[in-house]
Amino acid sequence: MQAKAREVPVLQDLRAGTAELHIRLERQLPFFSDLLDTNAFQRLMQAYYGFYMPLENALLASDMTSADFDLVSRLKAPTLCKDLHALGLSAEAIECLPICHSLPAINCRPTCLGVLYVLEGATLGGQILRREMASRLGLNADNGAAFLDIYGADTGRRWRDFIAYLGSRSLDTGERGAVVMAARATFGCFERWLESREVLI
Ligand code: HEM
Repeated sequence: MQAKAREVPVLQDLRAGTAELHIRLERQLPFFSDLLDTNAFQRLMQAYYGFYMPLENALLASDMTSADFDLVSRLKAPTLCKDLHALGLSAEAIECLPICHSLPAINCRPTCLGVLYVLEGATLGGQILRREMASRLGLNADNGAAFLDIYGADTGRRWRDFIAYLGSRSLDTGERGAVVMAARATFGCFERWLESREVLI
């Protein structure tokens, strides 16, 4: 599903700038661990929610996406919330979950793009994780793992649409650098948050 980086220079920069951080996080996530049971999966999704919810709220509040980008249709925290319900958490319990306050800064359009790249790119790996959680824990979109298949059959198309949006932004060299820095900060903040919630291997 590799979009053509050649045609979107900032995508080339993003891949080069985040590949090592992706590998590092992927290695620490417990999706393929023998120790992952439904209870540990629930704790992991609680931690995901504690990051995605405030970060998506910050994206909305920043108002840094253009009119031709439908951010609301790409929000993932509502689905995480639905999964947590399905996994047995009450609305009150979800409301009381710890929330990450150390988030990447979203103070301009390039930083917004960098954050979005990470959140949208994560849907690609979700397709692998979805299959793993279905076979290992019997979890699917109806009983607690909808987040991992958030765009379903549209995953590829929505990724390509995002890359087209990314490619349609005019970015100078400094702005391209800011996009990559924001993407790196997003990986870094997420990793530190998950570590602090003690859900990594
Ligand atoms: C064990 C967990 C994960 C696995 C197995 C995984 C796997 C993958 C795979 C296979 C791709 C490439 C898909 C393709 O080209 O068809 C991908 C892309 C990506 N993933 Fe992950 N991923 C994981 C976790 C994450 C997380 C937690 C994030 C960020 C929150 C993330 C962010 C990204 C991004 C930004 C891309 C897009 C790279 C690009 O093509 O430019 N991934 N992942």
